[in-house]
Amino acid sequence: MVSLMINGYECMVQEGTTILEAAQGAGAQIPTLCFLKEINEIGSCRLCVVEAEGEDHLLPACNTIVREGMKIQTESPRVVAARREVLDLLLSNHKRNCFFCSRNGACDLQKWCNYYGVEESRYIGSRKKIERPPKDSHPFLSYHPELCIHCQRCVSTCENATGRHAINLGKTGMFTVIDVPFGDDWKTTLCESCGNCAQACPTGALTEKRTKQYRPWEVRRVRTTCPHCATGCQMDL
Ligand code: FES
Repeated sequence: MVSLMINGYECMVQEGTTILEAAQGAGAQIPTLCFLKEINEIGSCRLCVVEAEGEDHLLPACNTIVREGMKIQTESPRVVAARREVLDLLLSNHKRNCFFCSRNGACDLQKWCNYYGVEESRYIGSRKKIERPPKDSHPFLSYHPELCIHCQRCVSTCENATGRHAINLGKTGMFTVIDVPFGDDWKTTLCESCGNCAQACPTGALTEKRTKQYRPWEVRRVRTTCPHCATGCQMDL
């Protein structure tokens, strides 16, 4: 077992536990965007950063393993300032039209922006200067790159949860693109139309077209069997 302090409270957790898991066990809230347990743990968004005594840098809670004697602050002024900056930067590349977005009210980015009081970005993101038309030829799924935060949850879900590798990461740095197979050629791709990628998306970038017919709070999630390919996969719909 490992002993550490979280927000002044002593905790004991199993070795190999992440700061995020330890904090959640201690009842402390840490915001996440890119994190999807056992599917996407790449630590790319940096929204989950926390302060650890004696460390120069803030640490991403979702993929930092606890160490004996750590003293963690999950909501210190430095942490809050860093999270507001992360959200500000994400918004700089994100088209802010929540009212017309099918994820309005169920978007994680919107939720955390509201929580930390970030309304508009002070920056103009490099991707905002590039034309990013939606990919909308797929009968069930659509992709709106101007709403994508490049968290890669869809890429990892397609790879790890379905084993299809239909969604890929293209290029690097500011030119990074999420290559989704929803263009005119979608029938020739590996996409099975399972919709897991859309469920993994934390924003309105990747959505199931049927969600335009209702608001998230008007429906209830149920466990069911996908009839699409006759394999009988269980899924939450
Ligand atoms: Fe930890 Fe994104 S949630 S880095």
